[in-house]
Amino acid sequence: MSSTFGTLFKITTYGESHGKGVGAVVDGFPPNLELSEDDIQPQLDRRRPGQSRLTTDREELDRVTILAGVENGVSLGTPVSLFVANKDQKPSDYQSMRSIPRPSHADFTYQVKYGVRASSGGGRSSARETIGRVAGGAMAEKFLKQVYGVDIIAWVSAVGTVDAADTDVDSITREKIDEQPVRCPDLGAADSMKQNILAAKDVGDSLGGIVSCVCRNVPAGWGEPVFDKLEARLAQAMLSIPATKGFEIGSGFSGTRMQGSAHNDPFVMKNGRLGTETNYSGGTQGGISNGEPIFFRVAFKPPATIGLPQQTVDFKGERVELLAKGRHDPCVVPRAVPIVETMAALVLADFALRQRARG
Ligand SMILES: Cc1cc2nc3c(=O)[nH]c(=O)nc-3n(C[C@H](O)[C@H](O)[C@H](O)COP(=O)(O)O)c2cc1C
Repeated sequence: MSSTFGTLFKITTYGESHGKGVGAVVDGFPPNLELSEDDIQPQLDRRRPGQSRLTTDREELDRVTILAGVENGVSLGTPVSLFVANKDQKPSDYQSMRSIPRPSHADFTYQVKYGVRASSGGGRSSARETIGRVAGGAMAEKFLKQVYGVDIIAWVSAVGTVDAADTDVDSITREKIDEQPVRCPDLGAADSMKQNILAAKDVGDSLGGIVSCVCRNVPAGWGEPVFDKLEARLAQAMLSIPATKGFEIGSGFSGTRMQGSAHNDPFVMKNGRLGTETNYSGGTQGGISNGEPIFFRVAFKPPATIGLPQQTVDFKGERVELLAKGRHDPCVVPRAVPIVETMAALVLADFALRQRARG
């Protein structure tokens, strides 16, 4: 199982959903930077369950502790170890599901691969694993902001069939996004999204959605062709988040409907540097950042564990009706926003160090 991501800015996450806790070890965080739990906690608070009626009712405060790598509020350049305790586990909720693999969840594939699996809570396939990424990614955000002025902002741009109006990627802020529990800056759309999520929750069903993300002030020159192209690493990072089903950058799939004459991004002078007039490329060309905002979108499926009865078979192949128990997210995208931001930060921090290493 590969639980490690990154080349120079490297993160390893650990922990199961119903174990003692979860976390990460971050190797490569530069020395002599101010770092404390206060830099990390805000993103964990945005990710945590139970923050609104739109999320799972599992109640976790998710307070992070830095166990190593920092002294007197300053990074030592040594591995930084991060820990978050699990508190509100309810293994009994999973009793009825032990012999039945949940359709479209990871119970069947983990069992086939390892011949054993965590007895409750989904183990490593649970979204609790993402706590380690968010904590380590918040450190990456701190480094990118402090050294390069990079801003990474994600928001919900669709829930089910409700699409938000286009957002101004140059001015959108986290404060604006967090004004609504659904984390969509289009207030009209946000209201419909909220109603639809609550309606799905009431009947025990679930909804999918899209998270959009912009990374601003990324210098030109980051990304490592050819196999570690910037967009390739972003795609890998995003598709490693549980429940993701799609990634597109810049014009994405809709760009296939345009002609080259309209799709090309002409160069112009911007504040003394070469910039582009439009940004259908999404901030990268040839796998290298071009200095324009990096813009991409991530598709999330409707979560698999639903409260409605499902006809399926158990591990022995006997036909059964599954009535899943437990507390589950009716739609993951409001909580996925900080996960997308911090995964993008991990990719960019790694490329920043790799570009530095070229001298
Ligand atoms: C923030 C977040 C919360 C999630 N919550 C749930 C949940 O409550 N119930 C569920 O079945 N899946 C949930 N998932 C998705 C599962 O973890 C995921 O579907 C499962 O591990 C199978 O992996 P896959 O969908 O990537 O194939 C969540 C995902 C994210 C990102």
